[in-house]
Amino acid sequence: MTINHSSNQVKSENRIIRIFDTTLRDGEQSPGATLRPEQKIILARQLAKLGVDIIEPGFPISSPGEFAAVQQISRELQGVEIVGFARAIKGDIDAAVRSTMDAARRRLHLFISSSDIHLDFQLKKSRDQVLAIAREMVAYGKQFVDEIEFSPMDASRSGRDFVIEMVEAVIAEGATVINLPDTLGYALPEEYGELFRSVRAGARGGDKVQYSAHCHNDLGLAVANSLAAINAGATQVEVTINGIGERAGNCSLEELVMAIETRKSAIGAETGIVMSEIYETSRMVSRAMNFPIAYNKPIVGRNAFQHESGIHQDGLLKNRNTYEIMDPEAMGIPRSMIVLGKHSGRHAIKHRLAEFGIELNDDQLLDVYNRFIEKADEMKIVPDDVLVRLASESTAIQHD
Ligand code: KIV
Ligand code: ZN
Repeated sequence: MTINHSSNQVKSENRIIRIFDTTLRDGEQSPGATLRPEQKIILARQLAKLGVDIIEPGFPISSPGEFAAVQQISRELQGVEIVGFARAIKGDIDAAVRSTMDAARRRLHLFISSSDIHLDFQLKKSRDQVLAIAREMVAYGKQFVDEIEFSPMDASRSGRDFVIEMVEAVIAEGATVINLPDTLGYALPEEYGELFRSVRAGARGGDKVQYSAHCHNDLGLAVANSLAAINAGATQVEVTINGIGERAGNCSLEELVMAIETRKSAIGAETGIVMSEIYETSRMVSRAMNFPIAYNKPIVGRNAFQHESGIHQDGLLKNRNTYEIMDPEAMGIPRSMIVLGKHSGRHAIKHRLAEFGIELNDDQLLDVYNRFIEKADEMKIVPDDVLVRLASESTAIQHD
């Protein structure tokens, strides 16, 4: 099995999972993370370089700037499928259709709630009324666009029979992709997988469409739930860079993609993502959205490949696989870092000083180590320049 990253073509016996990036739509719904249209265009170019299959660049009806950004991205990024996002309302659909008109490949993404709590308190409509709207709006959109994705919002908290009825109805009107959102991040992995299995098996025509997972991270389960959906037959996952999005965010692209990549044979799937662009994309999104990344965030957090414990450092210096399951450099992360702090041992200090061309005998090393431990109590992390100074002070004393 080989992945040709330069052409983004995947040749494999594994199932190919399509990456639908919604950083610029659902991700932008993260409090305080709004982007100007020109920032969206720059980030969309980077997402294309990263190798995502589908980009949802915004919500065209929401403002003229948003419409213009979706339009410009549709014109420019001819190698990626572009999504026009719309509520099940004619005005939204018209804006989504017009803004994506010049895309080489496009789809319309329509949604309406399916849970009773949303129907009763938000939409104030009966199931029959919502079903009729879903049917009518899919048929309306289908006049303009072949590829129609439909999302019953809050699907994971909806009556299963009603979700199946709704999916069946929209497939009959021409929907080609069924997305089953876990809008509130409420589902458990077994439940979310089961939702996909029962809809695929229960809806008439359910075997003719593609299925998509859309998971929020309120309980920290977005990646686990997305993997459960893949296991239950989903071939598309909706994700955001750095996992940004409403409340606790969406399923993080880098976490999901690296889980699939690292455990490829266990999962039996792969993606066409260009791994070496992961870090740069994460940093670009963080800067543009003024959204810091937690130090301990998997894959892209500052500490994700840093090692402080002496035992781990010792193992790493002998063989990286002792304490690393991924190669950070493959993701464009400068290099795996051994951080020198109070848990570090003499072996790591000797190794780091050797990188600076400083070779110490055993007495010198012991002396540097004792001074280093005092410093580590004071500073927590001892930077390289401080270590080098300690070493030169120590060798100077021993030469006197
Ligand atoms: O979380 C959600 O339900 C959504 C849909 C509208 C796709 O973002
Ligand atoms: Zn969402």
